[in-house]
Amino acid sequence: MKTPTIHHPALVESLELAYSAERAAAYAYIGHAASLRDAADRAAVRQIELDEWEHRECVHQMMVQYAIPVSRWYELKYHCIGKMIGLSCHVIGWFMPYFFAGKLESGNVCEYIVMLRYFNTLGIHEHDAALYEMGLKEKEHEVYFQEAIRDARWLPWFEKVFGWGAGTTLNDVDASNPLPVEDAGQYCKGYKEGKGVVL
Ligand SMILES: [Fe+2]
Ligand SMILES: [Fe+2]
Repeated sequence: MKTPTIHHPALVESLELAYSAERAAAYAYIGHAASLRDAADRAAVRQIELDEWEHRECVHQMMVQYAIPVSRWYELKYHCIGKMIGLSCHVIGWFMPYFFAGKLESGNVCEYIVMLRYFNTLGIHEHDAALYEMGLKEKEHEVYFQEAIRDARWLPWFEKVFGWGAGTTLNDVDASNPLPVEDAGQYCKGYKEGKGVVL
């Protein structure tokens, strides 16, 4: 068993989780795209799937750099989750896949910002740009799904119950006017500290 060359258990855990969860997301989007009738919608979701594969690769490079092992448990768990979500997209109608994808993406934004902050506490800044870029890309995904269901009849109900929707987000990133990369760590304060994001 390799020993990571950085000592930051929460960061190591976050990277391992992100690596496996990105594949789950990609699998889910494969199923989601296949369930869509409109060619333009399908192409948009397919592009998001490709972005998630890219994220997985980028996270993997960081793991290799610091000798962080791939978690076999996460790989198995998220493999199953991704496949199940992908299959479910064919039977749960059009709204729910968009809604839950959007909510998931909303949380993923802060995952990468928090990782950036973890690295910074170790004095490591060389991944700032890559992590911030991934966070912004997740924000782009969130906005895409948000727009897609903006006028859906069910949205107000789901927003109330699940805490995400047209006017509720799980991050404080402003996609139309993002902070420069040097200030990216200002976002998502309080995320993962049990308090949610301070908006
Ligand atoms: Fe991603
Ligand atoms: Fe994403």
